[in-house]
Amino acid sequence: RKKVTTHRLREMKQQGEKISMLTAYDYSMASVIDQAGIDVILVGDSASNVMAGNTTTLPMTVEQMIYHGKSVMNAVKRAMVVVDMPFGSYQGNPYEAVGNAVKIMKETQADCLKLEGGKEVAESIRAILNAGIPVMGHLGLMPQSINKYGTYAVRATEDEEATKLLEDARLLQKIGCCSIVLEKIPAELAGKVTAELDIPTIGIGAGAQVDGQVLVMHDMLGLNKGFSPRFLRRYANLYDEITTAVRQYINDVKSSDFPSEEESY
Ligand code: KIV
Ligand code: NA
Repeated sequence: RKKVTTHRLREMKQQGEKISMLTAYDYSMASVIDQAGIDVILVGDSASNVMAGNTTTLPMTVEQMIYHGKSVMNAVKRAMVVVDMPFGSYQGNPYEAVGNAVKIMKETQADCLKLEGGKEVAESIRAILNAGIPVMGHLGLMPQSINKYGTYAVRATEDEEATKLLEDARLLQKIGCCSIVLEKIPAELAGKVTAELDIPTIGIGAGAQVDGQVLVMHDMLGLNKGFSPRFLRRYANLYDEITTAVRQYINDVKSSDFPSEEESY
């Protein structure tokens, strides 16, 4: 099976084939979703929430992203692997941003990096692109800016923010981003951005008029019972399935049913 590339993503947009994307942070899960045929795997800084139990993505470090990125890369044969640049690693000067980007690419061997923001981080994105590293943009709700928003509510519902988002999307395409994630914005606005751009848009809570969809794997597998935004569709109830399995195991141990003679040497 052929590796999915940035070129292939562009081709998929042109041919009207939707792009499927999910997060993964470890070898085992990345292996399953790659074999299942997912197009893009995002090593998201949402690892901060679902792996480490933090309430925001802000604590994530470059070293931690590299650890998760390497783990995923060890498993993946076909999907394009995108690694999030963590908070603080690219918002300063572009030289620092390139340094961190090169470090992540060297140590993980990933295919692409993702950065949150438009005009504010355009110089950093330019510098990273100039180093030959593909960049996926991320507009709309940007979790690394949660302390600025003070809420995880839908973004760009007002004209001013919607206009800025459209301008940022045009700018990201112009400077050479390979794709843009649109998070939690009105479907109509996402559709407008998607129609204007030649590069693919990948939505999460951004409606159906985009070129692809991304979800956090733990959320779509139902491992995270407390998180139920309307954009989330659950494809499994792993929390309940794991609970049942673990309870059965506990019972079997307590009752000495496990291990049996066949399971012993
Ligand atoms: O970190 C992440 O999981 C993300 C997706 C929600 C797009 O950035
Ligand atoms: Na992220």
